[in-house]
Amino acid sequence: MDARIIDLPKILDRRGNLTFIEGENHIPFKIKRSYWIYDVPGGETRGGHAFKQQQEFIVALSGSFDVVLDDGIEKQVFSLNRSFYGLYVPAGLWRSMENFSTNALAMVLASSEYDEQDYIRNYDEFIQSGK
Ligand code: TYD
Repeated sequence: MDARIIDLPKILDRRGNLTFIEGENHIPFKIKRSYWIYDVPGGETRGGHAFKQQQEFIVALSGSFDVVLDDGIEKQVFSLNRSFYGLYVPAGLWRSMENFSTNALAMVLASSEYDEQDYIRNYDEFIQSGK
């Protein structure tokens, strides 16, 4: 699995810390879209699907949650809970997000604009696609 945690620049300052991301510099794709997930009720799961082409980078801007990645053979769980690192998710992995804390804020940077045709929402279809 090529998914990995990427540490971001952290400018420490007693006035408060600052972190930034430049597409193609800190993460391996050009950012086309950003969306965020928030106000997740306790126990809810988001994002049970795969993308055919889209790559993503997920940061816990606030609170914590787990990202579960599945390449059809093995599953890996990444716990995100700080805003100075994130998870790079290449295309072709089944991913879900769970265990959201109260007030968790998940920011997702994506390599493409929203395109429903790029989603695989059926797990059996994902396995059969051989991704
Ligand atoms: P979806 O990606 O399925 O959310 P999750 O990953 O949490 O399961 O998106 C939920 C709905 O929001 C779906 O109807 C499509 C819509 N949507 C957009 O219109 N634009 C977007 O950029 C995103 C991410 C979702």
